[in-house]
Amino acid sequence: MVNNKIINLNNGRSALDLGIKVLSLKKGTKILVPEIICDVAIKVFLRNNLKVKYYKLNSKFEPIWSDLYKKKSSDVSCILMVHFFGFPQNIKKFKYFSKKQKLFLIEDNCHSLNLKFKEISLGNNGDIGVDSPRKIFNDLYSGGRLFINKKLNYKFEKLIQYQPNILSKYKKIIKKDFKNFYTNIKFLGKRPNYESPFLYSDKDNNFNIEKMDNFSENYLKCINFKKESIKRITLYKKLEKFAKKNRIKPVFKIKSNLIPMSFVGIASSKSHASKLFDWGWKNKVEITSWPSFYSKAKLDKKLINRWSKYICIPLNQNFKINISKINDR
Ligand SMILES: Cc1ncc(COP(=O)(O)O)c(C=O)c1O
Repeated sequence: MVNNKIINLNNGRSALDLGIKVLSLKKGTKILVPEIICDVAIKVFLRNNLKVKYYKLNSKFEPIWSDLYKKKSSDVSCILMVHFFGFPQNIKKFKYFSKKQKLFLIEDNCHSLNLKFKEISLGNNGDIGVDSPRKIFNDLYSGGRLFINKKLNYKFEKLIQYQPNILSKYKKIIKKDFKNFYTNIKFLGKRPNYESPFLYSDKDNNFNIEKMDNFSENYLKCINFKKESIKRITLYKKLEKFAKKNRIKPVFKIKSNLIPMSFVGIASSKSHASKLFDWGWKNKVEITSWPSFYSKAKLDKKLINRWSKYICIPLNQNFKINISKINDR
């Protein structure tokens, strides 16, 4: 029997994978998943013999509740709630929905950390929760956590521990101290094709569930979350000004205590988004699209049209952004 447990693993996908196993969901049942989600999450569900049923999101990444209520059926066993980019969903509504429909609720907080927001600690609200500190902190070699929040019958097998090798240690140093060199080598001097909805899909099909390495586990214990939140919020506010000058509509309003992964904005058109990607590449500011969808997903035209205008600026970068209008004509 497991109850109120946090398990430190190598990444978010492993946490999700082990979490699904812990819930012991019936083979062939369906999971309700937001229509905008990265391909690795879908792969986790499929390899655990679940069927994926997408629910619609509005432009602010919130569920269209009328659509979600239409998706209920007896073969649905759980629902995934994602705090996109680190901005909390309406947890009350999700809890009410899953309780009413007798579904397991999985809280995906892979774009933030277990901060306290309005007295709610993210990660602790579903039957299970997952996060991915390795995505938030560049210095970690690995890091994904599974939060088990209710009594569940599951027998854990012994896991091997992720061990960063010499190559990954050097890679980390080069990435940190010679970021431009690293990016140029990685992408062969050419900007990635952020306009492709499948840019990084199918890149990592065979991942293993492993434990977090010792270095990352200790690093995580020493993090000052408050300081990290302030740093990110300060950068976010600068990016809001940058957005205003450049016809970019921010998707989320920043609030105190959040630890968002990225600033997300909506460009005025697809070509405007492309120009922003170009500008970022030239000026060494990471501006990307998100996510890379599951390669076999049938993507609705309207959804892709909306997706193609989103631009994401990760907040774990060190850069000085010039709050001016860029030449994007
Ligand atoms: C919403 C969401 N959940 C889970 C994951 C998996 O996290 P990780 O890359 O640490 O395996 C991702 C990664 O892209 C994600 O965006």
